[in-house]
This record gives sequence, C-alpha cells and structure tokens, in this order.
Amino acid sequence: MKILLLGKSGQVGWELQRALAPLGDLIALDRKGEGGLCGDLSDLEGLRLTVRALQPDVIVNAAAYTAVDKAESEPELADLINAQAPALLAEEIRRLGGWLVHYSTDYVFDGSGTKPWQETDAVAPLNRYGQSKLLGEQAIQASGCLHLIFRTSWVYGAHGNNFAKSMLRLAREREQLKVIDDQVGAPTGAELLADVTAHALHSAIDNPTLAGVYHLAAAGEGSWCDYARFVIEQAHSLGETLAVQEIAPIPTSAYPTPAKRPQNSRLDTRKLRHSFGLHLPHWQDGVSRMLKEITGTHA
Ligand SMILES: NC(=O)c1ccc[n+]([C@@H]2O[C@H](COP(=O)([O-])OP(=O)(O)OC[C@H]3O[C@@H](n4cnc5c(N)ncnc54)[C@H](OP(=O)(O)O)[C@@H]3O)[C@@H](O)[C@H]2O)c1
Repeated sequence: MKILLLGKSGQVGWELQRALAPLGDLIALDRKGEGGLCGDLSDLEGLRLTVRALQPDVIVNAAAYTAVDKAESEPELADLINAQAPALLAEEIRRLGGWLVHYSTDYVFDGSGTKPWQETDAVAPLNRYGQSKLLGEQAIQASGCLHLIFRTSWVYGAHGNNFAKSMLRLAREREQLKVIDDQVGAPTGAELLADVTAHALHSAIDNPTLAGVYHLAAAGEGSWCDYARFVIEQAHSLGETLAVQEIAPIPTSAYPTPAKRPQNSRLDTRKLRHSFGLHLPHWQDGVSRMLKEITGTHA
C-alpha cells in the first residue's frame, strides 16, 4: 500500500510519520516538498501533478491553515488550504479509487449548550477558520471519494507549539496567569490522533462501509483553566522551577480575540469507539506524558 502524507512537520503530521510507517510505503512531504514532488497545499496544480505521479492508495492530509485568529484577515488563504486543496485531493483520490484521510475540528459547531456534539448535529461555525474547515469537509463528502474525516479538538504534541507549552513558558516568567474558564473541551494528543488514524485506516481499507466523519478526542473534559492548572501541577511534580503563584479563571469576554471561539467544544466519540472497537484514554494521561517528554523527565 502506498501512502502519501501531507503536512509531515505539523503536530499531527510528525506523529503520523511514525504511526503510518508500518502500514505501507510512506511518502511524507511538508510544504517544501522534495524530489520534484509538491507538498504545498496552496499550489493546487503542483499538488495535482504530485498525486498523479505517485498514484497513492491513501492520502493522509495533516496539513492545514491553523492560525485561527489570522484566518479572520486571510480568509482566502484559509479557504485555499483548508477547502480547495482538500477538494482537489478528494477528486484525485476518487479517480484512483483510494482513500483520503483528513482532519477537521469542533469549530464547525457554534459551541452552544453543554452536550457533546455528535457527527449528525447541525454545523454553524463562528469564525473563518471554522468555515474554511467546514468547506473542506463538505467538498470531500461531495466528491464521492472513500474518506475518513476526524473532527478533533485542542490538539497538542511534543513536537510543535500548543497551549500546554505556552502555559509552561508563561509559568516560568510570571507570578499570575489569567486563563479562560468558560470554554470546555478535551485536549487531544497528536500521538493519540496518529495512532487512532493508523488503526482506523487499517480497518477501513478492508471495509469501505466504515468511510465517513468521526469525532476523535481524548476522554474527559475541562476548561482552558483546568488544562493550565493540570499542566502547572504536573510540571511542579516533575521538579520544574516556576514563577507562577496563581492561575486565575477569567471569562471569554475578558480576553477578546479577532476570532470568536465556541464555548462548548465537547465531542461525542461513541461512533468512532464503536465502529473501530477503540478505547480513548483520558486527556490528562496524554498531557502528563507529553510534559515528561518536553521537560526531559522520563519516569
Ligand atoms: N491544533 C489544534 O488545536 C486543532 C484543533 C482541531 C483540529 N485541528 C486540525 O488537526 C489537523 C492537524 O493540526 P495540527 O495541530 O497538527 O496543526 P499544525 O501543528 O499547525 O500543523 C499544520 C501543518 O500544516 C502546514 N501547512 C500550513 N500551510 C501549508 C501549506 N500551504 N502547504 C503545506 N503545508 C502547510 C504547516 O506548515 P508550516 O509549519 O510550514 O506552516 C504545519 O506543519 C488540522 O487539520 C487542523 O485543522 C487542529
């Protein structure tokens, strides 16, 4: 099986390089490309030629425009990378009869209520990033290609920038941190996303009825403030020297950003767990493991 991985240097892409390797012949590209192959999602023609040259059985697209606030002022670029490029990948892989694996986000929902979102719930993104990701999902579905779309939330990884690392850095510099306490979700590790992707793909290849959209997030829930507190507690217990004395909860209204964010980012993962027979660990397990890795304290 030949697998083309795009976005190999992102948080999820980095872990996919490891997790997909046992499934087949893996060609992994980032936006720089290599050997005449194009990995830049803003170059649609280059991307088309690359897929036609490689003729993969599976394309895994981990590349995305992920700058949520910047997308408000660059909506065309966000649409090009998050919607037009996935549309092209979907069209090309359908011609080849292969699979497209793609990632999306809970930001396709409006964040109302407190119930975890199911795959069948109505979508209504609050910001341009969410809109661009939704357009990408819709284009893939409309193409008729075999696909797995995993909607996830609050991604972190040892490789890349994320909220946990920012909190750790700020906690070394400041005595007080103010963190939003009225947006709730589940931090989800890039490692978990990559491992579940490999398992799910392995099952789906032999069973096309498994194609579809799945919610994939770690178990449990918390606010950004709960997440920050957990990161700091763990860092303390790992012997980190931190300046922080207090983590103060604040409402979203006290931290205005260009892009509106959903308050309810909870994802109902039953469809994924039942379809693929998988267990999703609690978010604290993965965060604590990542902190051990990045603070260099392997237990
Ligand atoms: N991060 C989150 O909290 C979150 C939450 C929900 C869903 N997701 C989804 O999960 C997936 C993986 O996200 P992630 O956390 O791994 O994001 P990430 O760490 O920001 O990685 C995204 C990658 O895409 C690359 N990229 C951007 N523009 C590109 C282009 N024109 N051509 C090729 N590559 C390009 C980036 O490369 P450069 O570094 O060179 O820019 C980066 O390596 C995405 O689909 C994202 O929408 C993420």
